Amino acid sequence: MMFTPTQPPLTWTTAPRARSDRAQFVIGLGGGSALDCAKAIAAVAPGNHAAADYVHQRAQPGANTLPVIAIPTTAGTGSEMNRSCMITDPGRPYKGAVRSDHLFPRYAVVDPLPTHSAGRELTAQTGFDALAHAVESYVSPRAQPICDALALQAIQDVAEFLPVALANPHHARAREKLSLASTTMGINLSLVGTCLPHRLDKPLCALHPEISHGQSVALFYPCWAMWSHRGNVERFARVTEILDPATRQLPIEQRDVNIGRIPSSRLSDSRFQARFSDKQQSDEYY
Ligand SMILES: [Fe+2]
Repeated sequence: MMFTPTQPPLTWTTAPRARSDRAQFVIGLGGGSALDCAKAIAAVAPGNHAAADYVHQRAQPGANTLPVIAIPTTAGTGSEMNRSCMITDPGRPYKGAVRSDHLFPRYAVVDPLPTHSAGRELTAQTGFDALAHAVESYVSPRAQPICDALALQAIQDVAEFLPVALANPHHARAREKLSLASTTMGINLSLVGTCLPHRLDKPLCALHPEISHGQSVALFYPCWAMWSHRGNVERFARVTEILDPATRQLPIEQRDVNIGRIPSSRLSDSRFQARFSDKQQSDEYY
């Protein structure tokens, strides 16, 4: 079977069919929503529960979850390397996370080449999502040394190469670095997790599916960072220093507040800011 649309209801309609056809594995090819959809179908199909039961925590993915081969065509969600999938219940509406070690894809085929065709808006939104995963996992109370190293490298790579990819969509090294940042941050999502912007995103995107995940996270970022940096001054200052090297000249107590300008400082031309006028369907959900 092959299904091309990636709207959240696909999980509702496809999982029963995968169940009745006794599917043996699922291939997810596309952006974060496609990969999450594949993981959700893989969890729902072999069981006796409906997709809604997983979204509303009445059922959990089991050991019988079907193997998933994840092939991302965008660089941002890291779904190919994490243990969760976002599912939207179109009936309520409600967007929630299903998390389980059984949701790790069996294989991830991370080839930057398909991301070359991603448009400017999609590249900016998914790139910001990868950056957000890195920043949030670095300043999180659950941060840990190995993930810190991955996060700092991802922040550096997105800051350096996202503007390059936006200016030249076929810049191979830039696309490679963005894919690497996305995939490694999938590890951080599983081992550390995210912070408030990724919590606020869910109700907003459930109510307004025309807003992409990257757009909604970018919308909340300046305010969240401005209020949260006081809880972890040194780490926010380190992030700011990478994103805006000019702040190295500032005392640390002045440097940290600049984090609130992340989406609007040196990367402002990347159109990170949410654009509510856009009516495109969300392309990613994590
Ligand atoms: Fe995200």
